[in-house]
Amino acid sequence: MKCLEPIKLGHLQVKNRFSMAPMDVRLHTHDGYATERSVAHYQRIARGGTGLINLELHVVRADGMGPYFMDPRITDDSYIPGMKKIAEAIHAEGAVCQVELGHFGKFSAAEVSSAVSASVPPLTAPGKNLHELSEEDIDELLKAFSVCASRVKQAGFDGVMLHGAHGFLPQQFVSPHSNRRSDRWGQDRLLFSTEMIRGVREACGNEFLIGYRLSGDEYYQKLYKDVTGYTVDNLAEIIPPLIEAGVNSFDISAGALDVPRYYAGPDPNLFPDNGYGGYLPLAAAAKKVSNVPIIVTGQMQDPELIERVLNEGLCDMAGMARQFLADPDFPSKIAEGRPEDIRRCIGCGYCAVGAGGLAAIDSHSVQCAVNPEAGWILEGYHAIRPATDPRKVMVVGGGAAGMETARILKLRGHQVSLYEKSSRLGGQLHAASVAPGKADIGLLTRYLVTQMEKLKIEVRLNTEVTITEVEKRKPDVLVLAAGGNPFVPPIPGIDRANVVMGVDLLCKEADTGSRVVIIGGEEVGCEVADYISEDKEKNVTLTSLLPGFSTKGHVAGLRALMNLHGKRVDLVPGVRQYIEINDEGVRIIDTEGTDRLLEADTVVITAGSKANDSLAAEIRNKGLVRYSVFTVGDASEPRSIVEAIHEGAVVAQHI
Ligand SMILES: Cc1cc2nc3c(=O)[nH]c(=O)nc-3n(C[C@H](O)[C@H](O)[C@H](O)COP(=O)(O)O)c2cc1C
Ligand code: SF4
Repeated sequence: MKCLEPIKLGHLQVKNRFSMAPMDVRLHTHDGYATERSVAHYQRIARGGTGLINLELHVVRADGMGPYFMDPRITDDSYIPGMKKIAEAIHAEGAVCQVELGHFGKFSAAEVSSAVSASVPPLTAPGKNLHELSEEDIDELLKAFSVCASRVKQAGFDGVMLHGAHGFLPQQFVSPHSNRRSDRWGQDRLLFSTEMIRGVREACGNEFLIGYRLSGDEYYQKLYKDVTGYTVDNLAEIIPPLIEAGVNSFDISAGALDVPRYYAGPDPNLFPDNGYGGYLPLAAAAKKVSNVPIIVTGQMQDPELIERVLNEGLCDMAGMARQFLADPDFPSKIAEGRPEDIRRCIGCGYCAVGAGGLAAIDSHSVQCAVNPEAGWILEGYHAIRPATDPRKVMVVGGGAAGMETARILKLRGHQVSLYEKSSRLGGQLHAASVAPGKADIGLLTRYLVTQMEKLKIEVRLNTEVTITEVEKRKPDVLVLAAGGNPFVPPIPGIDRANVVMGVDLLCKEADTGSRVVIIGGEEVGCEVADYISEDKEKNVTLTSLLPGFSTKGHVAGLRALMNLHGKRVDLVPGVRQYIEINDEGVRIIDTEGTDRLLEADTVVITAGSKANDSLAAEIRNKGLVRYSVFTVGDASEPRSIVEAIHEGAVVAQHI
C-alpha cells in the first residue's frame, strides 16, 4: 500500500505516509513545561505506528501567547530537559519528530498588553491593543524563532514545523489583507517567512528538518466581500521562495482564525464546511509547484481516501490530528490489514470546543468522546487488565454504553451476554447520526457492532430483560445500559395523533406534515429542526421555555443552530407556557405574555429524557445478582455519547 511506503523528508527517511498534525492537548504545565503525561501521550501515539509526529504549537515569545495564555513554549533553556524526554520516547518507537513553533501575532491573548503584527488591519478585534512591528522588533522576533529552533534541536528533535498557517504571525506578513506595510517587509510579503526559515537553517544546520505549515488559501473572500487574502492561485508565488530558503516539507491546511467556518484550526468540528479531504485541491495545487513533500491535513481519517489520493499524487503524506486521539493505532491497524478495527474520530468537537477542550484548560488534558484513554495514558486506567476472577455478566442495552462495556469486559476475559430489546444494536446512536453533519456517528456504531462480532460476544436481540429473565440467568454482575426514557411534558393534547417524539422522527419511525412545531430547543430540538428543514417545502417553528436555544453549548447543538440560519425555521424562545396542543397547532403564552397559536399539522416533542434505572433498583432489592448491579450512560442520567462510552469503559475495568 502506498500509505505504508517510506518517504524522505530532507535527509531523513520516514517509515510511512502518516503524519500527526500539531495538536495542543494541554498535558504540559500551565507555564508551558512538558510533563510525564506529555511523554506518555506522545510515546503512545508513536507506538501506534505513525511515521511523523509534530508536537503542538510552542510559542517563541511571551507576546505570542494564545487565548488561554498557557501555551507550551521553549522560550528558555529550562524547557529543554522535559522536551528531550518526549523526543527520546518518540524516537524509541521509530518515528520522526518535529516541534511546531509559532506566534499568535494579532490573535494573541487578551493578557498580552501590547500585541504585535505586520500591520493593524481592518478586521482587528475592537479594543485590541495591536501594534505594527518595528524593524528592530522584527529582527528580534526572527532571532527568537532561530534560538527556539536550536533549543528544539538540543532537545533531540529532528526538526521544527514553522506555523505559517491559520493566520498566525508569518501568515499575517504573507497576507495582502494583514500586511499593509510599505517598507521592505510589505514590498516583499514573503520576506518575514524566508528570513525566518534562513535563520533557522543557519542556527540548526542542513541536517535539521524545517517543515512549514501553510494555509493553502486564506479563504477571506469566501466570507467577506471587501477583504482580499491570498488564494490557492498565489501558491505558485509563495511556495518556491520558501523552498529556496530551506523548507523540507509543507503541511497544507487553510484559513485564518478570523475566517470562521473555513478555518481548520482547533475548532474544525464547529466549522465543518470543508468536509473530508476538503483541502486536497489546495494540496494538489501546492504539489504542482513544490519539489519537497506535501502533507495535507484536515479530515483525512478515511483509509480509502488516503490510499486513493496518495496514488493519484495529490499529496505525499496524510496529516491527521483528532484521529490520533480517537485511535492512535490508526497506522498499525492499516498495516495489519484490519481497518475495521479503527475507532474513527466522529468529528463531535468534544476535544476542541466541547467539555473536553474546556475541561483541559482548568484541569487535566484534552479528552476524546470515543476514546477514554486519550489524555490518561500515564495513569494506565484504561489499559486492558485480565480479570483476576472472570464473572458471568449480563449487559442490558445495546447502545454505545452497553457495547463499550461488553467490549472491554470480553477483552478482560469475562463471560458477557449483551441484551437488546430492539432488532438491532446501536440504540440512540442511530437517531444521533441523522441530523445534517452527524453521519460520522454511524462510524462509531459500525466500529462497536464489528467488535461485538469479532469478539464473539453473545448478543440477544429482540430481548427485553425482565426480572424473570434475570432470575433465570443468575448473573454474577449486571450492567444496566438501557438508555433513558423520553420526557413527555404534561401539556393538554400531548397524546393526540399529530404529536410525535423527536427520536422517532430521526429513526424514521414517524413523519411530519408541512407545518411543524417543535417543543424543546436544546441540542436534539435544534438537530430535529435542522433535519426537518432540509426539506424546503416544510415550515418549522422551534420553541423553548428557555430564553435561547442549545444553551448547554454542546458542539452538535451549536452546529445545528448555526445551520438553521437561512432556512425556513422560526425561533420562538422564552415560551412562558404551553397551553394546549389542538387540531390547529400549539397554543402558547409567549415571552411577551400573549396567548398565541403556532400553527402546525405535526408537533414534535424534544423535551429531553429522564433516567431509566428502576430495573436496577428492583434487581438490587430482590438480591438477584451475586455481586453488583451497575447503571451506566443515559439509564443513570441522560447525557451524551461521551458519558455513555466513558462510564461503560470505567465500569468494565472495575468489574
Ligand atoms: C484539540 C486541538 C488542538 C489543536 N492544536 C493545534 C496546534 O497547536 N497547532 C496547530 O497548528 N493546529 C492545531 N490544531 C489543528 C489541527 O492540527 C488540525 O489542523 C485540525 O484538527 C484539522 O485536522 P483533523 O481533521 O485531522 O483533526 C488543533 C486541533 C485540535 C482538535
Ligand atoms: S471523536 Fe470527537 S472528541 Fe474524539 S478526536 Fe474526534 S472530534 Fe475529538
